Amino acid sequence: MPVYTVSHVQNIRICVVMVGLPARGKSFISQKIVRYLSWLSIKARSFNVGNYRRRQQSHPSADFFDSHNEDGLKIRAEAARDAVVDMMKFFNEEDGVVAILDATNTTKARREWILELCRENSIEPMFLESWCDDEKIVMNNIRDVKVSSPDYVDTDPDTAAMDFQKRIEKYREIYEPLEVDTNKDLTFVKLINVNEQVIINKIETYLESRIVYYVMNLHIKPRSIYLSRHGESMYNLEGKIGGDADLSERGWQYARKLPNMIKNVLRINGEEEEDDDDGDEDVQLTVWTSTLKRTQQTASFLRYPKLQWKALDELDAGACDGLTYEEIEKKFPQDFKERDENKYEYRYRGGESYRDVVIRLEPIIMELERQENILIITHQAVLRCIYAYFMNVPQEESPWMSIPLHTLIKLDPRAFKTMVERIKADIPAVSTYKEKGTSQLGEIEDANNKSKNLITGAPSR
Ligand code: ATP
Ligand code: F6P
Repeated sequence: MPVYTVSHVQNIRICVVMVGLPARGKSFISQKIVRYLSWLSIKARSFNVGNYRRRQQSHPSADFFDSHNEDGLKIRAEAARDAVVDMMKFFNEEDGVVAILDATNTTKARREWILELCRENSIEPMFLESWCDDEKIVMNNIRDVKVSSPDYVDTDPDTAAMDFQKRIEKYREIYEPLEVDTNKDLTFVKLINVNEQVIINKIETYLESRIVYYVMNLHIKPRSIYLSRHGESMYNLEGKIGGDADLSERGWQYARKLPNMIKNVLRINGEEEEDDDDGDEDVQLTVWTSTLKRTQQTASFLRYPKLQWKALDELDAGACDGLTYEEIEKKFPQDFKERDENKYEYRYRGGESYRDVVIRLEPIIMELERQENILIITHQAVLRCIYAYFMNVPQEESPWMSIPLHTLIKLDPRAFKTMVERIKADIPAVSTYKEKGTSQLGEIEDANNKSKNLITGAPSR
């Protein structure tokens, strides 16, 4: 059965045209949009003109970007053309839905050219400008990503930073920002100083509004996201799936240990503040749980604000709820096989698929983007879906990831990748990991070999 997404239903193709001076987070925003849409099964790709330019000029000094440098202009125009050619192939040959043209696109002439191409190819253009006059942010960005860019291989960071500032000045000389008065017919979003202010003009389709809402929620403050499954439950001990069981004795041990584990990671991060006089810790963290007993019991010794989300409840196993995998194989052999063949799409009778879970998790992801330090205590399938978003794990792999019990996962989102750390509680637990083609649960829960995704970062550019 074909899988329809919001965009396919409307049969719309969107070209997001980034606009802004260098070091304004355009690539950061582009990559986040691509990750978000891909997670929602909307085919999206970013075309970074800098990468195309590097094929001809890999170590440019600031003068290369001077608007009077004929050679530079030629190479830059060719790079933009090459990127657009590939972008059109993505739309026409690969059924692409959202493409992002990630370049400065700072002049009206360049934007007119792109507009014309979009019109000729029945593609909706949507401009996304990142405007920032906060020099501290810009300097941080230069230090964060520009000095280590392939443009400055073997260049000392201070020299690279100075050259990059000069590059920005070259662009500033010809920069024509988007203005509501003069661009009222264009579909555009303008982010000012990250998200201090947002100007939205002529957003017309559902998919455009999703993208706008998403980028409005992004922030760049450092923070960590902590993920944990609930402690081992009585159902886990019996090998049963679903249900609303209590924790086992070892599950309670994990719950009691969790506050210290969290305290330690916050301390390492330098985030913990002094205790209040009354012994309460200052708030550095919010804990999100599902509405099921096992996650709430796991959170019960934590002294941080807590929020319950129905959307964090475990994947609904429908008719199979409360059964072991062996029982499912006996009772519903065809279903058992189908699920192994396509675990992401398989929907339990009267229950859910991984795809269904991703859809209901969208508000969670949106809120996570807005928030700072959050600890999420949830369930195996839900955690796989959240993890897949942060780590860009493909759909066919995500339902098979090993996420063991009694392990705290720390995610540190950085500019172009997410760092991961696993902290084990050292409290034994049964394995709940079922490999493809068997109804037996694994011997060892902590299957390091199987969980490559847990130890690698999301692809950086
Ligand atoms: P260039 O034109 O040179 O390719 P760029 O605009 O694509 O530059 P990025 O490479 O994306 O800039 O810069 C990444 C940095 O921008 C990160 O440090 C990130 O924290 C920061 N950043 C992300 N979003 C914004 C924003 N809206 N405004 C300013 N900085 C941002
Ligand atoms: O740093 C600016 C940059 O990202 C370069 O790497 C790249 O060559 C250029 O922007 C692409 O934008 P434009 O085509 O507008 O020059």
